[in-house]
Amino acid sequence: MSALLEVVGLSVAYGRIEAVRGVDLRVGQGEFVGVIGSNGAGKTSLMRALAGVVRPAAGHMRFAGADVTGLPSHRMVAAGFALVPEGRQVFADQTVEDNLLLGAYHRIGRDRAGVGEDLARVFTLFPRLAERRRQLAGTLSGGEQQMLAIGRGLLARPRLLAIDELSLGLAPRVLEQLFPVLTALNRDGLSILLVEQMASYALTVTARTYVMEQGRMLLEGRSRDLARDPRVLAAYLGRHAAAP
Ligand SMILES: Nc1ncnc2c1ncn2[C@@H]1O[C@H](COP(=O)(O)OP(=O)(O)OP(=O)(O)O)[C@@H](O)[C@H]1O
Ligand SMILES: [Mg+2]
Repeated sequence: MSALLEVVGLSVAYGRIEAVRGVDLRVGQGEFVGVIGSNGAGKTSLMRALAGVVRPAAGHMRFAGADVTGLPSHRMVAAGFALVPEGRQVFADQTVEDNLLLGAYHRIGRDRAGVGEDLARVFTLFPRLAERRRQLAGTLSGGEQQMLAIGRGLLARPRLLAIDELSLGLAPRVLEQLFPVLTALNRDGLSILLVEQMASYALTVTARTYVMEQGRMLLEGRSRDLARDPRVLAAYLGRHAAAP
């Protein structure tokens, strides 16, 4: 699989705190990749560096065939990297439709038809958003706000959709509606990078997973193999490996 995103030796530091320490990561074209790890492992810091929200202290990033090391977030969006940030960060006092259109700010002036198509597609994927298009985003439920944040990411028409903590604060019933949407988007060709606390979900929907701890990549492998790995079972799934 050719690499869409290739990261080598990436580090992120906040003053003297090194949150990400020399991480290598790769997402193939059309791949669905997960990152799991405990609180404070550095997952969000990694995603923010990939998205150009924070500048890496060291390392190199290639995306869609170009060196994108240190590019600011608006350039990463234009290159096709969309981040659905931890905690959604929707604009509470704007409507659902206006929040979605914010995802397309970089192309709204020159691609009205395309933006209209993408808006219609998001409303088909998430009928709840279609029904609430004129409602203020702050009045949506947590699950609907996550749908909105994903929809806003899709309005960028990304090559890679990165999602930080899809499950945050959501009930299993809501997650069971959201994960199949990601699977369907991936089947249609979208590359996805999913950071997830709920390792059991992430290992089920993704093809390959990285395990991050204390700023480093501890393990990497096929999700179905990691789901049976004793180290993953004990640390992230709260289970002991089944007796052979
Ligand atoms: N803006 C910041 N300034 C200083 N330190 C930070 C900042 N953001 C994160 N950190 C520190 O970096 C480390 C990694 O945090 P990060 O949020 O990346 O972890 P995480 O894996 O996303 O955790 P969680 O699972 O809780 O979301 C932590 O020790 C955290 O305190
Ligand atoms: Mg985080």
